[in-house]
Amino acid sequence: MMTEFNRQTRGVRLGVRFAFGVIVASLTLALAVYRFGFPVLAAPPSGATAPTLASLPEGYRNWALISVASVGSPVNDVRAKLGNDIAINAYRQGTIPFPDGAIIARLAWKKHATSGETNNAIRLQATQAGLSPDAIQKLLDETFVAGPATNIQFMVKDSKKYASTGGWGFAQFTNGKPDSIVVQACFACHAPGKDHDFVFTEYAP
Ligand code: HEC
Repeated sequence: MMTEFNRQTRGVRLGVRFAFGVIVASLTLALAVYRFGFPVLAAPPSGATAPTLASLPEGYRNWALISVASVGSPVNDVRAKLGNDIAINAYRQGTIPFPDGAIIARLAWKKHATSGETNNAIRLQATQAGLSPDAIQKLLDETFVAGPATNIQFMVKDSKKYASTGGWGFAQFTNGKPDSIVVQACFACHAPGKDHDFVFTEYAP
């Protein structure tokens, strides 16, 4: 007879075996893509899913701003989240889950220290405000703008197509080209946000 404990242990073991299988399958696919390039993507082996986005969504750079963020050291970037019309409307109306067709983009750039004219302008304003030289230096040290772009990530809502990853397809681009990513790894980290449809970013009014 199987005790409750055994049953749970078995469940965990099966879960671990499944997770391991997913990792091995993903790594195998990633290696195949790496070694053989695009033909593998053009004719995926049976059971493999096509990439969420083959190219950058048209007009994404004109989408409305959801919010901004900055991740600290060692990433040191600044980020903007943009949404297409469906995503923005859902945010503004508080619609959860997001409707199919919603796309959220996360753009990111390396933090870039300000210099030259920008610093002169900030220094002038800070001096007029009566800040000490030390305080002004601190202010300048902590002031930054967007430098070179790092990568762009997308979440694309299609509750049927991406049912196994919370209804979201995941994609990433560097220099305009799709990166080969393991969508299960993206989803694994977003999974705890189930209450807000796996989306972390809140709308900044
Ligand atoms: C280790 C955890 C983690 C992993 C892995 C991860 N994300 Fe995220 N993601 C976050 C967090 C936290 C945020 C919110 C803050 C931010 O923008 O970084 C976020 C934000 C996003 C956003 C903006 C919408 C939102 O949920 O706030 C998109 C789009 C996104 N991630 C896509 C991806 C893609 C694509 C992958 C896989 C290539 C991925 N993420 C992997 C944690 C993760």
